Order: sequence, then C-alpha cells, then structure tokens
Amino acid sequence: MKCTVCRGEAVIDLRRHNANFCRDHFLRFCRDQVAKAIAEHRMFGRDDRVLVAVSGGKDSLALWDLLVDMGYQAEGLYIDLGIGSYSEASTAASVDFAERRGLTLHRIDLREQHGYDIPTAAAVTRRVPCSSCGLSKRHLFDEAARTGGFDVVATGHNLDDEAAVLLGNVLHWQTEYLGRQAPVLEERDGFPRKVKPLVRLSERETAAYCVLRGIDYIVEECPMAAGNRHLRYKEALNALEAASPGTKHAFYFEFLDKAADRFRPEARASQEELRPCTSCGAPTTAEVCAFCRLLERVQGAEPVPVEVLGSKGRRRRRRNGAAPRRAPGDGETATAAGAGERVRR
Ligand code: AMP
Ligand code: FES
Ligand code: ZN
Ligand code: ZN
Repeated sequence: MKCTVCRGEAVIDLRRHNANFCRDHFLRFCRDQVAKAIAEHRMFGRDDRVLVAVSGGKDSLALWDLLVDMGYQAEGLYIDLGIGSYSEASTAASVDFAERRGLTLHRIDLREQHGYDIPTAAAVTRRVPCSSCGLSKRHLFDEAARTGGFDVVATGHNLDDEAAVLLGNVLHWQTEYLGRQAPVLEERDGFPRKVKPLVRLSERETAAYCVLRGIDYIVEECPMAAGNRHLRYKEALNALEAASPGTKHAFYFEFLDKAADRFRPEARASQEELRPCTSCGAPTTAEVCAFCRLLERVQGAEPVPVEVLGSKGRRRRRRNGAAPRRAPGDGETATAAGAGERVRR
C-alpha cells in the first residue's frame, strides 16, 4: 500500500477519502482537517484561550495534542467522575499526558470538591448515569471557563459522535435539538462558546493519530454507558459506512449545509429566558440551576460503588422498582441522555 501523496509506505487507508497515507502525511491530514474545521466554523483564533475538556480517551488527548502542535493556547480540564477503576485510568492517562508535555491541566474531583460521584448520583436520581454525568460535566466546563477567563471550551466529539447524535435526533424527530446541533455553540448569557474541532475526523482516525504520536490513552469505554442508544446508532452507521464509505460524512455535513437552518426557529422558540441561579450564579431557566438541585439531592447519600449499579442507574438488586423520576430540568433531556452530547444548553 503506497501513500497517495509521496508513494512511500502507507500506514493507513482512508476509504472515504479514497486515499492511503504514510505516517507523516496522515498526521498532516489530521492537522489539515482540524484547521479546516476551526476556520470554516470560525471556532477560535490565535489570541483566544482554549480550555480543552480532557477525558483521557483518544479523542480529547488527540485534540489537545493537535491544538498545542498548531500553536493555540490550550489548557486542559479533567473531571474525576468517581467511576471506579475507569476514572482511575482516565486520571492517570490525562495527568501523564500533561506532565510529559509540560502542559497545564486543571483538575476537578467530584467526590472531593462536590461531595458525590456519578454512580451515587445515578442511584439517587434513578436515571441513566450519563444523565447526571452530562449535567455535571456541562456545568463544570462552563464554570471553569468562566472563572479561568477562557474564551472557549473545546471537546473531543468526533464525526462518529456527531453523526450518531444526528441519527438519534432524526429518528425521534427532535426538531429543537436538530436546530441546535452544530460544531459551534456561540457564547450566550453567561455560557461560554463551545466548539468541536474534531468533527471532520472519525474515531478510527483519532485512534490512529494517538498511536502514531505515541499518546497513551485509555481504550476502556465508560462501564456505565454500556449498551446505551448512542452506541447502537454508531454500530448502525458503521454498517452503512462499511458498505458505502463517506456515508457518515455526507449525513452530517449535508445536514449542516442543507437542513440545520430549517430547524433554527424551533430551537430559538424554545430558548427560555435565563437568569442567575440563586445558589451558584450560573445561568438557568429556573430559580436554582439543575446542578445545584442535583447537589442538594446527593449530599450525604451513601456512596454506591460502580459494581452494584446497572447501566440504567438502578441498583442491580432492585428489580424494576419504582419508575425513574424526572426532575424538572433546565438542560437535562431524556433523549440526549447517554448520547455523549447535549444539544441543549
Ligand atoms: P463523552 O461524553 O464521554 O463522549 O465525551 C465527549 C467529550 O467530553 C470528550 O471528548 C471530552 O472532550 C469531554 N469529556 C468527557 N469526559 C470528561 C471528563 N471526565 N473530564 C473532562 N472532559 C471530559
Ligand atoms: Fe459519564 Fe460514563 S462517562 S456516565
Ligand atoms: Zn506520504
Ligand atoms: Zn446553581
């Protein structure tokens, strides 16, 4: 297999681009795709301070590496979610990456700083773990950007993630979310700008990037997300992609080009007025924000180890007990729960 650019030995074939690349040309390809996403969607400039949300996985570490390599001012933010050995491995990968490169990593420990962890929050709220997880991450990303004076928060969502979220939103005709699904969410009423510079790269590509750059990332997926809908949508898209390379890219980017605008009015109509949370000051539609309400519910709860919790957030020994309760939410959604993405903010 020869590199399409230099005819040297290729290390990867990219069927959707009808190309093979050697190591150097593949790394250049990744940088070019990220540069294109940043420029096309006007994500940020050289003077902006970027806070990269880092999970220790391939996407966010590749993103941080790429941004630093491209000369952007990028610091990391890691949240220890308290998900047993998974969080221990995530912490180690994130800290090790930052230390080796002399980069600044801001760290938040949910248990130490806020008195709870995700398995306990899932058990107390009796909702899928990804629900309190997503809510906590969104709140803490926003707060860290605000207090740290960052211009933008960057996450490692890739093409596979975005195409899977789009598929979920289409299957359930979530028109409001369709109107908000974009690689950039502008700053609004105290929320920082949020961007996804990896939208032009697939999961396979970010994994290959890490391997070729010698980045040690955690391969293990979150044990609490096992079997969720988002993973099923990814599998379905992978089957389509295998038969017809380029399907995911066309699905997502043609949605942005040809359809996303049609849903904007629905998204705007549902944008309720925001005011500061009376407890923490974060923007919210309610008197007290969803994060502070979660804090109130979980304070003092007996810690629940990951092992006794099913992926639906219920303790395993409880057999289909009470129906999951839903708190009135500003920002929490059932459909987006577990989707690894929240289109609402
Ligand atoms: P996920 O929701 O796990 O698919 O992750 C999507 C993105 O959210 C990742 O690429 C990271 O940018 C960010 N992220 C996920 N988990 C964490 C974490 N524990 N701390 C900081 N950022 C995270
Ligand atoms: Fe949030 Fe798994 S990473 S529940
Ligand atoms: Zn080459
Ligand atoms: Zn609050």
